[in-house]
Amino acid sequence: MEKGPKLYEGKAKILYETENPDLVIQYFKDDATAFNNQKRGTIINKGIVNNKVSTALFRKVEEAGVKTHLVERLNDREMLVKRLEILPLEVIVRNLVAGTMARRYGLEEGILLKQPVIEFSYKNDALGDPLITIAHVLALGWATKEEIDLLIDATEKVNATLTKFFDEKGFILVDFKLEFGRHKGEILLGDEICQDTMRLWEKETLKKMDKDRFRRDLGGVEDAYNEMCAIVCGTE
Ligand code: CDP
Repeated sequence: MEKGPKLYEGKAKILYETENPDLVIQYFKDDATAFNNQKRGTIINKGIVNNKVSTALFRKVEEAGVKTHLVERLNDREMLVKRLEILPLEVIVRNLVAGTMARRYGLEEGILLKQPVIEFSYKNDALGDPLITIAHVLALGWATKEEIDLLIDATEKVNATLTKFFDEKGFILVDFKLEFGRHKGEILLGDEICQDTMRLWEKETLKKMDKDRFRRDLGGVEDAYNEMCAIVCGTE
């Protein structure tokens, strides 16, 4: 499948049209940003790693019954996906307190939550992706009740599947972000699932294996991305 004209360029990925109007190519860049674009940098080969990890994790959640936009990984940096009308929402799942939740409520990072929390943000960089409630989403007509129910069910399945998968590999899935969209009237999981969008801590040492190494200047960023890629994808 050949790349057509550029449709959209985001912080970490570029979308290209293809000759099929229902399919687009997602190109993974090495660019890294944090704190709503205030910190910028490059993580060498991140695009290659995130493409591989996202493909493997999309396949894993598909096995658990979650429909995703993945068609196939085309090469190192390109993934063929179904075209989505993305909902303007970031769906965040938290199993332990970290990041924004720790800051927002003045809590220590690492507190185990009694039950996972699913929260929604309005996807809008200029506003800093503000927290939003389901009532707002419904009142604004950004998604229907049926769509919300469906995406919550899918999100719970993703959390159960990936929490178990990473636990068996020796890692804690602390939190992650999902995005959903509509394709021919159906809600599909879109975007990516990788170390840019998850927090993963090594169980024994609590070592951070994700984008927090970049955000917080912890060093060993590429090593952590590569190590997790080998663990998730094996020798594939
Ligand atoms: O990014 P930050 O730590 O400030 O926000 P968070 O709400 O604590 O992030 C929760 C999880 O969602 C983390 O795993 C983030 O990497 C991910 N996230 C993301 O992928 N994209 C965003 N715009 C916000 C959060």
